[in-house]
Amino acid sequence: MYSEKVMDHFTNPRNVGELENPDGVGEVGNAKCGDIMRIYLDVEGDVIKDVKFKTFGCGAAVATSSMVTEMVKGKTLDEAMVISNAAVAEALGGLPPAKMHCSNLAADALHAAIINYREKQEKKE
Ligand code: FES
Repeated sequence: MYSEKVMDHFTNPRNVGELENPDGVGEVGNAKCGDIMRIYLDVEGDVIKDVKFKTFGCGAAVATSSMVTEMVKGKTLDEAMVISNAAVAEALGGLPPAKMHCSNLAADALHAAIINYREKQEKKE
């Protein structure tokens, strides 16, 4: 029922953990199941230099989190901001319909981390 890519990212997730002094942090909870995801960003100029995640959730949530970190590393903030939940699910070769809501966490947490970074920058100015 899961694609090979989902199984790969679930059993061997990339970029798991925290960053010591992250430039931006985003956290979202999934209202449907109570699962939580947190994304940490290191930003240099306008580019995401490093990204880590912690997901307290189901296998599909772990796989989508892992995939989103791979998709955004090296991207500009604007490029990362337009990555959608559907794009993450697509990059994983799709998710079973009952698990599509799990992919919402990854993109939402990413966007929240970018917004957090931008807010911090504004305060500095
Ligand atoms: Fe909670 Fe998948 S069941 S994110």
